[in-house]
Amino acid sequence: MIEVSAPGKLYIAGEYAVVEPGHPAIIVAIDQFITVTIEAAKKSGSIQSAQYSDMPIRWTRRKGELVLDIRDNPFHYILAAIHFTEKYALEKGKQLAFFDLKVISELDNSNGRKYGLGSSGAVTVSTVKALDAFYDLQLSNLELFKLATLAHLNVQGNGSCGDIAASVYGGWLAFSTFDHDWVLERLKQQKITDLIASDWPCLRIEPLEAPEDLRLLIGWTGSPASTSDLVDQVHQSREEKENAYQQFLKDSNACVTAMIENFQQGDIEAVQEKIRENRRLLAQLTTISNVVIETEELKKLCDLAEKYHGAAKSSGAGGGDCGIVIVDKKAGILPLMSAWEKAGITPLPLHVYHLGE
Ligand code: PMV
Ligand code: MG
Repeated sequence: MIEVSAPGKLYIAGEYAVVEPGHPAIIVAIDQFITVTIEAAKKSGSIQSAQYSDMPIRWTRRKGELVLDIRDNPFHYILAAIHFTEKYALEKGKQLAFFDLKVISELDNSNGRKYGLGSSGAVTVSTVKALDAFYDLQLSNLELFKLATLAHLNVQGNGSCGDIAASVYGGWLAFSTFDHDWVLERLKQQKITDLIASDWPCLRIEPLEAPEDLRLLIGWTGSPASTSDLVDQVHQSREEKENAYQQFLKDSNACVTAMIENFQQGDIEAVQEKIRENRRLLAQLTTISNVVIETEELKKLCDLAEKYHGAAKSSGAGGGDCGIVIVDKKAGILPLMSAWEKAGITPLPLHVYHLGE
């Protein structure tokens, strides 16, 4: 039996701007995993996951008609990952076979509630990884990233795929997404093996080293949020307020680029200043788009962290899920932990995950 796993992620900075090619974000992999096992089968295969089996499929109406929203359903990422990896395997001359595939997730809690740690990215990556081993494809990290990305784009469409990079590479990353139109156009014309082998415009995946005394704290608001919905909403408002949106992109770019330099210089205080700046920029994006990124709970989480010498902001798309805090290791964290708990914020005892640990 083959067993592989991929970690979840948290966005530290650069959210929303990072869906535009070339705009940087800082992302970190955390030590909660999705594990996939795969075993050869005969005549028919199966896909199984205890966590997702009773997961509802959300739907909405468009022009009155019922439309399924498959973007929050892990099965669709698994199916897309199988589809693209098998296409690649065929091009590499492999013979396809039947298998039983099982998914075990630590990224969702026992009630099936999402922590917002990026289960769709991790489930896509771990499925590709499992098939990589099953068909002996010997994919490099970059090839794994690109294959998982093609599958993810096929289901979600509007994401940056930063969660996939975090899941593949681990640790802290500076990430900018590739030109999605370019890749999708090539996908129509080229073999997958050729597309995977070519350089993708604007893509940047660069490991970062965190300053030695930097400590990451994570608080969970307990309310789940749908990233793809929130990104859709921000995009819809964008057309009316193009100038303000462009300014947001420019400011986010400058803020995160400086934060990446502060990481490289090992300057925690400067990193903290940029976290606060990024929080202000996301508040401006809320003014532009009317999309609530920092909910009341996230505000509480951040304000309490600031009171206890941390620099805090929402993580990812916001609207619920988690907030992150950057503190100096030398500062005590217990007062903040109890203040959070009193305020109904759950501290998540997670750590940065580095590959090979
Ligand atoms: O909510 P999360 O942790 O899935 O993060 C979403 C981050 C966005 O920039 C808003 C979207 C994306 O795909 O990068
Ligand atoms: Mg989220």
